[in-house]
This record gives sequence, structure tokens and C-alpha cells, in this order.
Amino acid sequence: MIVANWKMHKTRVEAIEYFEHLVENKHILEKAKENDIPCVIAPPAYLLYPLHDYISHHHIPVKLAAQNIHQEANGAYTGQMSAVMLKDTGIKYIILGHSEVRQYQHETDDIIYLKVQRALAKKLKAILCVGESAATRESGHADKFILSQLELVKTLDKQALKNVIIAYEPIWAIGTGNSCSGEEANRVAKLIRDYLGNEVSVLYGGSVTPENIRKYLSKDIIGGLIGSSALNPANFLAMVEAKLTVNV
Ligand code: PGA
Repeated sequence: MIVANWKMHKTRVEAIEYFEHLVENKHILEKAKENDIPCVIAPPAYLLYPLHDYISHHHIPVKLAAQNIHQEANGAYTGQMSAVMLKDTGIKYIILGHSEVRQYQHETDDIIYLKVQRALAKKLKAILCVGESAATRESGHADKFILSQLELVKTLDKQALKNVIIAYEPIWAIGTGNSCSGEEANRVAKLIRDYLGNEVSVLYGGSVTPENIRKYLSKDIIGGLIGSSALNPANFLAMVEAKLTVNV
């Protein structure tokens, strides 16, 4: 699974240019589809509907993800969007608990868990981000911290957990170019799967590029959640191709 997190990037014109590149290279995405490798783009919310329309029109095998939802179904929450509203734009996935949202919008594990439940209730797959800061890693408590972020999710039943994808994203590796080693990312991915069960899929995120993605992919890490590098459609496709060649 290859997921591009566009964060707060791209105008509508830029987004269409990106998708034009995907149309020109549709064979790569079709091959990924044949091999059951989901290719997912998470644009800013205002682009979801126009891109959904574009995807349907051009028959491109990519899915869309939202970057967040509100935990309530509706209500007086200015500036927020609910799962049901976003589902209406054709999304299949929702990224939840990204470290930037935890940091700037002060989301806690409790709130994020409500969002996971809300996403699952609407038959959307949740991509739940976890990961430690540099200080937590240096203190030697990274594993304990990561598992504490998963405590509530662990209470979900096995069926529900099949629709939860955990993205291990060490905060110190996000947007820094300082990516985690392949061994360490895989050790943490295994720790997560041992804790939650093997029905859960794990992605790695944090300075992933077409050059380094292969070192992460394994039976425990099925793909990447990619920010900066995947803002370029050629890089996104190169990472899909990398996944195709290392298809484990
Ligand atoms: P990055 O971002 O690839 O730019 O490090 C990853 C993410 O935040 O999901």
C-alpha cells in the first residue's frame, strides 16, 4: 500500500497536473491493482470531490483518503468535517492521529479513538498514525510510548481491526530527511503486530523516498505513508513500482 499525504499542499490546478501524470502512467497503477496494492492519495479536503470526479472520469485505480475527521457525527463545530460528509466525496480511507494534528490541534489518544470508531462505523478504513518524539526515543521509552498510543485500539474486535492500518511514523523522521533504519522500523512494526494481532497492517512513514522505500517493505511493513517526496507524481509512481518489485 502506498499512501501520499499531501498535507496542506496543492491548488486545484496543481492537483489536476499531478493526476494528469497518473493518467499518463496508468499502467503502473493498474499493475498495482492487479497485485492488490492499494494506491492512495490524501489531498486537502477541498480537493476530494473534484479529484473523485476526475478519477471516475479517467478510470484511474487510485483511492482517496481524508487527512482527518471530527469525532462527532454533526453539530456546532465550525471549521470541521464529519466522516459522513467526507464519505460522500468518495473516500475509502481516513488518516487519523497524525503527529502534526496531535501537536497543533492537541488531539489526544481518547479523541483519536473516537474518530477511529466513527470512521469504522461509516465503513471507512482508518490509517492510524503512531510514533515517538526524539526525546522519548532518547529516554529509551519509545516502545512503551508507541504501545500506549494503541491501548484503546486494542479493545476493538478482530473484525474491526482488519479495517485499521497502523502507520508507524517516528516524529523525528517526519519531514527531516532523517529516516529510520529499515531494521528499526521493522522491529517496531513487529512489536505493533505482536501487540494488536496480525490482522493489522502496518505502514512506515517519515522521510520515505523512492530511493529508500525498499528497505522498509517486508511481511510486517506493507507500504509507506509518504509526505514530501510523494508531492511529486513521478516519485509516487516510483514508490508504487518499488512495492511491485518487492511484493512480499
Ligand atoms: P514525510 O512525511 O514523508 O515528509 O517525512 C510523512 C508524513 O508526515 O506522513
